[in-house]
Amino acid sequence: MKTYAIIPAAGIGKRITSEIPKQFIKVNGKEIIAYTLELFQQCTAVDEIIIPTRKDYFDLLNRIKGKYSIKKLSRIVEGGKERQDSVYAALKSIPAKDGDIVIVHDAARPLLNKDLLSAAIDSAKIFGSVVVAVKAKDTLIEGSDSVENYIDRSKIYYAQTPQIFGYKILTDAMENAYKNNFIGTDESMIVKMNNTEVKIVEGDSFNFKITTDSDLALFRKIVS
Ligand code: CTP
Ligand code: MG
Repeated sequence: MKTYAIIPAAGIGKRITSEIPKQFIKVNGKEIIAYTLELFQQCTAVDEIIIPTRKDYFDLLNRIKGKYSIKKLSRIVEGGKERQDSVYAALKSIPAKDGDIVIVHDAARPLLNKDLLSAAIDSAKIFGSVVVAVKAKDTLIEGSDSVENYIDRSKIYYAQTPQIFGYKILTDAMENAYKNNFIGTDESMIVKMNNTEVKIVEGDSFNFKITTDSDLALFRKIVS
């Protein structure tokens, strides 16, 4: 049984002020994606890393691979329009078998805890499908200009990554999504849509996704 890690990195980061896609921004002299890749390189449970990205960034990724010795990075493939298309392109490029495990983790989540990653992989080996998520902590308001309603937060989680699945579970779910013209914002949604139970593994707030300028500022503060 092999464990593959897909690190989607084909987005352009519309919600952040930057010339280059956020995953390639340097913080303390090192690209954000390099922090993420080092974690997966160091995790003994991971065998191979596959990255979907834009063609223009293949060279830079290969340089990052060399500089930080990301030896497990075996494939760089062209990503697609939606995150889902990027993940699917990577999934199709790997010679995985039905019992293999596929991890999907955002390039823009560089502070994933290594024990959390290992625990999530172990859990996926038992349950077949897991999503790392954090419990809502604040009061949840529904409304636009003013408050319309309050939502019971006791059953609300924020989905993060990693999201980890058996190869066949993820492949079947993605193919079903394409068949139904369904675009999911993450893989757990796509797998759940295909009537498969997805277990929740409790994550932590350090594992935030760098999405906006303030997220980037926070990451800079943490690593400096
Ligand atoms: N991603 C991808 N292919 C896409 C879109 C997103 O591989 N077509 C990747 C991003 O590079 C990122 C991860 O999916 O690592 C999470 O997506 P998000 O935070 O939404 O990144 P962007 O789509 O780049 O940002 P934005 O939505 O603000 O444009
Ligand atoms: Mg996006």
